[in-house]
Amino acid sequence: MQVTLKVFRYNPEKDKKPRYETYKLEAEPTDRVLDLLEKVKGYEDGTLSFRRSCAHGVCGSDAMRINGSNKLACKALVHDFGSKITVEPILGLRVIKDLIVDMKPFFDNFRKVLPYFINDDPAPEKERYQSREDRERFDDTTKCILCAACTTSCPSFWASDEYLGPAAIVNAHRFIFDSRDQGAAERLKIMNEVMGVSRCHTVFNCTLACPREIQITKAIGEVKKALMTGSLE
Ligand code: SF4
Ligand code: F3S
Ligand code: FES
Repeated sequence: MQVTLKVFRYNPEKDKKPRYETYKLEAEPTDRVLDLLEKVKGYEDGTLSFRRSCAHGVCGSDAMRINGSNKLACKALVHDFGSKITVEPILGLRVIKDLIVDMKPFFDNFRKVLPYFINDDPAPEKERYQSREDRERFDDTTKCILCAACTTSCPSFWASDEYLGPAAIVNAHRFIFDSRDQGAAERLKIMNEVMGVSRCHTVFNCTLACPREIQITKAIGEVKKALMTGSLE
């Protein structure tokens, strides 16, 4: 099939304003949008810039807006979009070049939630035991690949990149509800700050955007509940 691929182009060092460029490409319906971008870069215009690494939905580096919705280009199949595909950078972060955005505010927020295991007890001889039920409590939020598709689809984040955003809260949830971790109180304090969970107005865009199908709004709700009740049950 023939695909018309419209791509957002912007080089702040040269261009006064962004523009779109259109490419006519031969593609298989089972090709991925990432394949189309690679084709443009390899055969039509080597200056096209975008991030990608694993090409298999694991590294989280190629989140972009495809026909208006946040997707991973390596998981987006041509037949799901048809013969006219528009590709733009994710919203709410400064464009560095073409489809590449400045991820610093996103990772700054991620760091704020202490996204690592905290436990000052001496390490046991073998593992720190955890029951199957306790492990299941936070299983969903372990799946995050930090692609930013959720955070950059959230209107509260568009309004201010100081809002921690769904991805950071998902990663806080992963540790807050881990029975082996001792940092929940500290993290919940951060969640309670003015740019924390109160900025989430249950819009659900984040959940719809997540390529890992993490129940993000539910996880944020659980963090809100823990703040209100003071309990991790
Ligand atoms: Fe990406 Fe989902 Fe993690 Fe958000 S929660 S950063 S959408 S994997
Ligand atoms: Fe934003 Fe998701 Fe809440 S889109 S408002 S973080 S439910
Ligand atoms: Fe790694 Fe798409 S290139 S997730």
